[in-house]
Amino acid sequence: MDSIQLHHLLGKMTREEKIGQMVQLAGEFYKEEDSENTGPMHEMNLSPEKMSTIGSVLGVSGAQTLIDIQKEHLAKSRLGIPLLFMADVIHGYRTIFPIPLGIASTWDPNLAEESAILSAKEAAVSGLHVTFAPMVDLVRDARWGRVMESTGEDPYLNQLYARAFVRGYQGKDLINNKMSVAACIKHFAGYGAPIAGREYNTVELSERTLREMYLPAYQAGIDEGSKLVMTAFNSLDGVPATANKPLMRDILRKEFGFQGVLISDWASVGEMISHGIAADLKQAARLALKAGVDIEMMTGGYLNHLHDLIEEGEISESLLDEAVWRILTLKNELGLFEDPYRGANSKEEKTIVFSLKHREKARKIAEESMVLLKNEKQVLPLDIQQKIALFVPEEQSKDVLGAWSWKGQQSESVSVYEGLLQHVSKESIVLKTYSPLKNENHKDWLTEVKNVDVIIIVGGESSYMSGEGASRSNLKLPAEQIQLIKNLRTTSKPIHLILFNGRPLDLTDISQDVDSMIEAWFPGTEAGSAVANLLFGQKNPSGKLTMSFPRTVGQVPLYYNQDSTGRPLTPYNQDDKYLSRYLDVENSPLFPFGFGLSYTEFKYSPMQVTVAESKEEVRIEVTITNNGNLSGAEIVQLYIRDKVGEVVRPVKELKRFKKIFLEPGQSAEVVFQLQKQDFKYVHQDLSVSVEAGEFDVMIGSNSEELEIETIYLDFKKK
Ligand code: GLC
Repeated sequence: MDSIQLHHLLGKMTREEKIGQMVQLAGEFYKEEDSENTGPMHEMNLSPEKMSTIGSVLGVSGAQTLIDIQKEHLAKSRLGIPLLFMADVIHGYRTIFPIPLGIASTWDPNLAEESAILSAKEAAVSGLHVTFAPMVDLVRDARWGRVMESTGEDPYLNQLYARAFVRGYQGKDLINNKMSVAACIKHFAGYGAPIAGREYNTVELSERTLREMYLPAYQAGIDEGSKLVMTAFNSLDGVPATANKPLMRDILRKEFGFQGVLISDWASVGEMISHGIAADLKQAARLALKAGVDIEMMTGGYLNHLHDLIEEGEISESLLDEAVWRILTLKNELGLFEDPYRGANSKEEKTIVFSLKHREKARKIAEESMVLLKNEKQVLPLDIQQKIALFVPEEQSKDVLGAWSWKGQQSESVSVYEGLLQHVSKESIVLKTYSPLKNENHKDWLTEVKNVDVIIIVGGESSYMSGEGASRSNLKLPAEQIQLIKNLRTTSKPIHLILFNGRPLDLTDISQDVDSMIEAWFPGTEAGSAVANLLFGQKNPSGKLTMSFPRTVGQVPLYYNQDSTGRPLTPYNQDDKYLSRYLDVENSPLFPFGFGLSYTEFKYSPMQVTVAESKEEVRIEVTITNNGNLSGAEIVQLYIRDKVGEVVRPVKELKRFKKIFLEPGQSAEVVFQLQKQDFKYVHQDLSVSVEAGEFDVMIGSNSEELEIETIYLDFKKK
């Protein structure tokens, strides 16, 4: 439909029909049993007439199901305006990829994009039009359960991933590529910084920190063309995001130039009452519309009060028209007026969803996402002749999909045991399931393991302990896992720990008791295949952390790009008490941002740093050699430090990285170029610029093992 026709359609709509477009209902409203206006329809005071005006549905999929719902809806819709179908396809639809924190550990935005392309295909052929992804909240607090959904603590990396996911979901031609879906970046803004890491808690960020650390990834997703943005549950500077006019109308709309649809998070309009800034749903609806929320998810504020608010002169109908125009435009950009069923195709659904090709890609990404945290004495990779004792937590051996794996079926995932059987026979594995509930002494097992060569323990978190509503005050492994490790440590057998979890954990209690550790995250459908391929060396681990692992939860929030403070702890003043430090633990993480080992060894030449004549650009070169006898990938990282700023500057900032693959003995030169733009930062007056002065440039394989050189750059004030 062209814009004249679209304006014409808007002009024909009644106020009730406009309001209906701004309401999103869950799929259960469209289930047969509710048609007699009972259940949720009753709560929302939804008459069948009103039902015929609704604009979008969330959380239901299946090609035939959505075709039927759409057909029935269109038969009742006076103007034939199709429904939008939206859902949480966060890291896969039914083929589940690693959680985003795992995908991020590949340091390969192309893999993120590929996972999104395949996820979009499965979602689109199943009838969906929009995914509520990517989540691009920067995170620094491992107590918060939704760090699993983020790409970590660095704004530069998060921007690259935000763009990659949006590109993957939407492709370049949303209207003609029916195997794409519209992206919805979330949660605007600052949801990743709840005080005390407690879910839905208050967020207090200075606007400068918000702009320097948290906003860049949202801006990147919008610049990449994300069609929707979702509001955050949290208050920011005392005002819930969903009612925060300066955040939505000034920053998101005016400054970022976002023209798409702004949708509230689930019931976040209604939650303004609990926040205490709206006395009732009517007032909440007024605040949300004034802030510019176009679609209200799952509460009846707009549905039941916008009409009266207009009649009472509280809001102008033009705000409705503005919102409905954006909703109709989105439907038009998806081609729904020409084809309301878009990609839904129950025949193709059978071959595309959960295809072997998709699962193979999921396995590859899972392999690249896993991080080798420890491998002393090179006990890995395993020899296929070795006899193995495998300990898995009962009921959790297939709990590998993570908390946002909607249509993913644990029963369809590959357990570690099944993965090992792809390499060795049943006879070489003694399988034991330990109870996550009982603290056993495992005496009998200590005898049994005498007859094996190696011990593999699968531990970490259950998916229940991760994701939304899963904040934890303690980051340790469950007590029975620690006990099992301690008991098995009394044998002389090498212990390999495989961690399935959705956040940085406190591994201090056991890191000395195991001989190797693989951080596998929640790796998705092909978990066991990927783990086994790493254990037997078919794949050399290459993943690196994008979120710091603390020594203890007491250090959190903990992140690499921290400020120096006036009394920094350094290698030269370790004995001073009056420093920015703790009495009982080091400041450093147990495993730092950017850390990950390999089965081979990469050697770095001294870096060559060349400052351009202009003194505004710098070139950094380094040669990497694979000194081992296994091929593998290394992620070379470049950090800077602005030694003197007009506001305090982080002790280091990731500015470039390169993932290179080297055969044994092979070398490769890596060259990075930095320009003035790379050194700019947000000043106290919120302007973005940079001054001349000294800068450190740092190269290395993680954020702590770095070669440093100090240079002088003379940026001309322009
Ligand atoms: C949830 C989440 C949001 C999700 C939405 C719809 O509460 O906060 O990320 O997209 O509701 O399920």
